[in-house]
Amino acid sequence: MSKTVRIAIFASGTGSNAEALIKKMQTLPSENGRVEFILSDKREAPVLEKALRLGVTGYLVEKTGDRAVHEQEILKLVDRHQIDWIFLAGYMRLISPQFLKELRLRHQGQAQMVNIHPSLLPAYPGSQAIERAFSDQVPESGVTLHLVDEGMDTGPVLRQEKLSLHGFESLSDFKARIHELEHRLYGELLENIVNKKIATSFFKEVIEC
Ligand code: GRF
Repeated sequence: MSKTVRIAIFASGTGSNAEALIKKMQTLPSENGRVEFILSDKREAPVLEKALRLGVTGYLVEKTGDRAVHEQEILKLVDRHQIDWIFLAGYMRLISPQFLKELRLRHQGQAQMVNIHPSLLPAYPGSQAIERAFSDQVPESGVTLHLVDEGMDTGPVLRQEKLSLHGFESLSDFKARIHELEHRLYGELLENIVNKKIATSFFKEVIEC
């Protein structure tokens, strides 16, 4: 029996990748996959309006106390929606080892969380990656898709695609091309997960004992 893959997107900002993922999902058979919700930790994040406009549930879970409390709140949503995969899309918080462990408990040992980053990791981890690569005038940069671990942009790489800086006169043109590339690559990853071309362990309720 084929199961529906349930996706959550975590984002803190503009949400262009979140939007691209949702639009991609709309082109796939609905019985194969579903974006259950978008979560933001920032009240002012435009991604929340995008969720509303696109008809996807949006949750705001602001970090008011410590990280453990914040992540427990998020985990409740993961459980309520029986989330199989989490896509980070400009989510500006590090995920704790405890959260990854909890996620693994629900997926037969796999922490099914992916991230997208606008550089060829390990080059330019962290923020302002596009700007830094452009100002260094490296010959090429690109986009990385990787599994999430507890470090900042350090998890195992799933896919990278290069983009030459040659011919880009302005940062804004280069940025626009990087974002285009991101949207395509993240969409393809989503499609492969939803179509089970990438091994998926489905959510398994954790029974407290
Ligand atoms: C993207 O460049 C992504 O790679 C990085 O954060 C940015 C988010 O942009 N992790 P958006 O909010 O999806 O437009």
